[in-house]
Amino acid sequence: MSETKNLLVTGGTGFIGSNFIHYVTAHEPSWNIVNLDLLTYAGHLENLSDIPNDKYSFIKGDICDKELVEKILSDYQIDTIVHFAAESHVDRSIEGPGAFVQTNIVGTYNLLEVARQYWKNNGGYDGKRFHHVSTDEVFGMLKKDDPAFTEENPYSPNSPYAASKASSDHLVRSYQHTFGLPTTITNCSNNYGPYQFPEKLIPLIILNAVNGKPLPIYGDGLQIRDWLFVEDHCEAIVTVLKNGVVGETYNIGGENQFPNLEIVKKICHLIDEYLPESPHYPHEKLITYVKDRPGHDFRYDMNITKIRRELGWSPKFSLEKGLAFTVNWYLNHQDWIENVTGSKAFSDWIIKNYQKREK
Ligand code: NAD
Ligand code: DAU
Repeated sequence: MSETKNLLVTGGTGFIGSNFIHYVTAHEPSWNIVNLDLLTYAGHLENLSDIPNDKYSFIKGDICDKELVEKILSDYQIDTIVHFAAESHVDRSIEGPGAFVQTNIVGTYNLLEVARQYWKNNGGYDGKRFHHVSTDEVFGMLKKDDPAFTEENPYSPNSPYAASKASSDHLVRSYQHTFGLPTTITNCSNNYGPYQFPEKLIPLIILNAVNGKPLPIYGDGLQIRDWLFVEDHCEAIVTVLKNGVVGETYNIGGENQFPNLEIVKKICHLIDEYLPESPHYPHEKLITYVKDRPGHDFRYDMNITKIRRELGWSPKFSLEKGLAFTVNWYLNHQDWIENVTGSKAFSDWIIKNYQKREK
């Protein structure tokens, strides 16, 4: 069994954070977890309703609240921070970038600053770790035949979301370089899997297909993403927490590059197979081309040679396996879907984002 850790997970009620808490609970039973989450529109306590309380605590609060973060580090003797909390949706960052600057940049600065001072004054940095969860979008976009991003690619973020994540990565790097804070960063490609809020492509398509609604394809649908099943991402982060080298960044990806249109068709075929009696069969006929996302990045692809070679991690789930699991999960979790999509805030977002895209 591995050494005990006391984790502060920020944003643990969102998509990847909640999968991470499930993963750690199952695979690292000696680790204690405190989940600090503001419960924005993207955070849902339902995602963690089956997590036992003996090694897990939830605190509702803002990563921008210095006093609260310091109290948590002290009360729970936190030695490891795993920082997921963020505004994460590119389309929302185009609609309103302010929240992205506040949470992703100021919030990360705040966590770094509290960790730096609290740990320095309470036993030092030995045995401590600040792990920052970031994205492939900081590298900008690739053309069709460009080689995949490596850790050495220059940053070139294109959306306000990507720029806010790039800023936070730079802050993390600077705290390591200047103050010696023991940090690691992972930059990951597009995740999919259970508990993903249905504003993102894959869960939105599943929901709309099942309900016979249009399946909105931005532009020509030929943009390419590198898809990773969320459990693989969680395993990679745990690997970096255990064996990653302080000061290093690691790319994480699925080695599964597909154009959006192909992903959507794959989902339609799976739903055809699982719901052959559906009045919306064949679901592909629901595909609808809509106005493109402004500044839409054409392609991301992660070169994962470093994490594979140095830490022995590589993804376990093929796209076929991960997608089949995911579609099944959504088909079997109607209650969860109704809970997280039942709010006026969700329907307002769908109207706002898709009405303006009608051609
Ligand atoms: P998400 O939007 O599903 O969840 C974000 C969580 O952060 C929510 O629970 C929300 O309530 C919480 N939060 C937001 N602002 C907060 C604040 N000020 N204080 C405390 N909590 C706050 O996001 P996700 O898709 O799970 O992404 C998690 C992290 O992983 C993000 O940092 C994102 O940039 C990164 N990432 C995501 C992907 C992806 O494909 N989803 C890929 C690579 C990296
Ligand atoms: O690459 C990692 C990033 O992946 C993460 O950092 C972000 O947090 C995460 O949201 C995701 O960003 P994307 O913009 O790639 O994900 P999204 O699901 O919003 O869109 C995936 C692709 O599908 C993208 O090319 C836009 C397109 N799309 C999306 C939606 C919501 C559509 O064609 N139609 C849609 O309705």
